[in-house]
Amino acid sequence: MSETKTLGNGKTTNVRLQAWVSEMAELCQPANVWWTDGSDAENQQLCDVLVKAGTFTKLDPKKRPGSYLARSHPSDVARVEDRTFICSRTREEAGAANNWADPAEMKAKMMERFQGCMKGRTMYVIPFAMGPLDSPICKIGIEITDSAYVVTNMRIMTNMGQAVLDKLGADGKYIPCMHSVGAPLKPGQKDVPWPCEPEPRNKYIVHFPEEPSIWSYGSGYGGNALLGKKCLALRIASTVARREGWMAEHMLILCLTSPAGKKHYVAAAFPSACGKTNLAMMQPSLPGWKVTTLGDDIAWIRVGEDGRLYAMNPETGFFGVAPGTSAQSNPNALAACSKNTIFTNVVLTPDNDIWWEDMGVPAPARGIDWQGNEWTPDSGKKGAHPNSRFTAPASQCPVLDPDWQNPAGVPLSAIIFGGRRPGTIPLANEAFDWEHGVFMGSACGSETTAAALGSAGVLRRDPFAMLPFCGYNMSDYFGHWLSMASRTDRNKLPKVFFVNWFRKDDTGKWLWPGFGDNSRVLKWICERVDGTGKADKTPIGNVPTKDALDLTGLDIPAEDLEQLLAVDKEGWKKEVAGIEEYYQKLGGVPAPLKAQLDGLKQRLA
Ligand code: GTP
Ligand code: SPV
Ligand code: MN
Repeated sequence: MSETKTLGNGKTTNVRLQAWVSEMAELCQPANVWWTDGSDAENQQLCDVLVKAGTFTKLDPKKRPGSYLARSHPSDVARVEDRTFICSRTREEAGAANNWADPAEMKAKMMERFQGCMKGRTMYVIPFAMGPLDSPICKIGIEITDSAYVVTNMRIMTNMGQAVLDKLGADGKYIPCMHSVGAPLKPGQKDVPWPCEPEPRNKYIVHFPEEPSIWSYGSGYGGNALLGKKCLALRIASTVARREGWMAEHMLILCLTSPAGKKHYVAAAFPSACGKTNLAMMQPSLPGWKVTTLGDDIAWIRVGEDGRLYAMNPETGFFGVAPGTSAQSNPNALAACSKNTIFTNVVLTPDNDIWWEDMGVPAPARGIDWQGNEWTPDSGKKGAHPNSRFTAPASQCPVLDPDWQNPAGVPLSAIIFGGRRPGTIPLANEAFDWEHGVFMGSACGSETTAAALGSAGVLRRDPFAMLPFCGYNMSDYFGHWLSMASRTDRNKLPKVFFVNWFRKDDTGKWLWPGFGDNSRVLKWICERVDGTGKADKTPIGNVPTKDALDLTGLDIPAEDLEQLLAVDKEGWKKEVAGIEEYYQKLGGVPAPLKAQLDGLKQRLA
């Protein structure tokens, strides 16, 4: 093997880390090893490398300073759930909701895959922290990757660079995260703009929760490749959280401030592409109310000294769904990606800016679509991929909450679950108590979206919006949620709610305007927490009375509102059957949740 060059300015005295990097370099056989330091100068250098490679197109610096467009390979556009593996010691520990593989067999397979997989490429070493470095639950990871695109994204999404190596010191511990796009170069072989392993069955997103470590092979996109996000901060973190008595959740965190200045912190779990980013930074349509953002995708939650649940966002950026983001729906997200942003798989306009469907501005007369082809709005094809995304620094969000980096997190008043449900599930519903709330979370269902490869629009159970992200047995995870009630005073736990912005009428039209008008539901939720909101006790939970929601300035037909707040008994009986079937499929669901299901069944009879 020819001598590999060492590049980059990242410096460490950590002998274990140095040894691991050498070992991985020997395995992957890259041309160079680049220790990243996370500096501005380094970032510029990497962006220039990516422009030269054709991965990045530099956008007009007057319109989008410091911003770039990337187009992925058409096979590499979303998470690959059926290629995601949890390699716990036993199949039982991974549970029926995960793909399990034997850890020794899978490790052997990975060693084979990674053998020489970085030939002709640079191997980057990315030190990153999930959570503020001074937080008690901050976790340090080291991602090794052969993708400069991943480095530039990780720099936005995590605390990355020399400060992390300094914190690690000489003998600090880290979670090893191996990543390769799986496209080694032969001597003289010309590279492509988006190298990856195009064959789906050769992609692997692998977790070894006991070690813990992560091995990801073949994809350069999103949660498959930015390993701090779903792999570390959810799948691995959920297993650590269970052991240590805290929670790692697929949740946004926001603060709702009333006109009188009263603050409530709320966390909400919706499945992928079901409205977390939008709710997290929404502009309330209710005058005088204010929403500030602490996180849009992941919440780490622990019991604080005062016995309340405190939530903290371990990320530093937004990897947001582009289509549908407009000045009407989410002006704050648009502002967040006005500069220093990486756009992936959106339309390139002739004036070197970007565009996507439902951006709220006229489509360019022509452009280059996400696949790199000439495109016109009347071509009948979408210009941006439905799972096209922006990677934007959280610090650029105009409504970022001042406490978003508070190492202690913020105390939660409410936890909200939701999903994309065209029928049955009402606009809002409050759980009777913690156990009923955990039942609601366990029973989440949603239509699938473009965030994962596979068919979209199919109803599936997605408990706590964690189906693709729970690193251990789902039934044990339900048990962990239940156990929070014994870790603190019950009356200090947040109240639990279920919402559904996605009800449709017979013609397929949304019944609820959504977006900024969701503030009306948030207001009701906070009123319930304060003990003032009005609700009817129904078989399914406490549902807002007809006059409970503040509808000031909203023109909504009375019959639509009635439908949104009705308890559709027949629909709910089918729902119960679906939950029952799912519980059976999971196996081992805790008795208190089965009792909740039986209770619901009886109340509906
Ligand atoms: P991930 O990043 O995949 O976890 O997604 P997310 O949960 O953050 O979803 P996001 O807020 O990006 O929204 C996804 C899609 O849902 C976008 O196309 C939005 O326009 C749409 N959406 C969000 N909120 C609403 C709403 O209140 N009503 C309707 N009808 N659509 C919404
Ligand atoms: C999701 O799918 O829930 C996302 C996007 O947030 S990804 O990072 O690709 O997982
Ligand atoms: Mn997500």
